[in-house]
Amino acid sequence: MRNIVLYIASSLDGYIARDDHSLDWLPTPDAAQNLDYGYSDIYASIDTTIMGKRTYDIVRAHGVENPYPEKKNYVFTRSARNLSNENVEYVSGDVIAFTQELKAQAGKDIWLVGGGDLNTLFLNYDLIDRIILAVIPVVLGGGIPLFARGGRETKFRLTNAEHWMETGVVQMTYERL
Ligand SMILES: NC(=O)c1ccc[n+]([C@@H]2O[C@H](COP(=O)([O-])OP(=O)(O)OC[C@H]3O[C@@H](n4cnc5c(N)ncnc54)[C@H](OP(=O)(O)O)[C@@H]3O)[C@@H](O)[C@H]2O)c1
Repeated sequence: MRNIVLYIASSLDGYIARDDHSLDWLPTPDAAQNLDYGYSDIYASIDTTIMGKRTYDIVRAHGVENPYPEKKNYVFTRSARNLSNENVEYVSGDVIAFTQELKAQAGKDIWLVGGGDLNTLFLNYDLIDRIILAVIPVVLGGGIPLFARGGRETKFRLTNAEHWMETGVVQMTYERL
């Protein structure tokens, strides 16, 4: 079975976006210094992404219609309207059964992009195999939490840790126990 990997960045106080959804506090990748926080490795290891409707809406609001070209991109929504376009496929109904089937198919790993709502949904169905979390050295004081309320207690084992002194970012890799 392929893995579902939550690759994401949070503030020191556990937020993945400000209340207004802005992401200006995230460090920008530095091509000159070859500093991409593992993005290219992750991107090469997956062939599928899954994200919540609010995350895709934010991406689109930034003018990016097709954030992950050449990947199969799914956007989860409770809406019955089919909003699919050439870049993403919207999924509603029994999204858990859908994800379990996807996971059982042959292929590369699956990137759970977020956000907090979807992270908790997946956590509660044991659908997060690995978390790669970059902690950004800022306290935001509020925002969208990494996991929305209602997450089930779930233990993880640390398998890797990296840090970048230039930006103060620490990135941990955890496998679900
Ligand atoms: N820092 C980072 O690395 C990072 C990464 C990813 C996202 N983000 C940020 O996270 C924020 C969004 O997170 P969020 O928690 O507000 O929302 P989200 O998880 O992205 O999306 C929530 C939406 O997903 C759909 N959904 C949730 N549960 C569902 C279910 N059981 N079945 C079907 N659809 C379901 C619903 O869409 P409908 O309302 O259409 O029904 C819900 O409104 C954004 O600001 C984004 O920029 C940050």
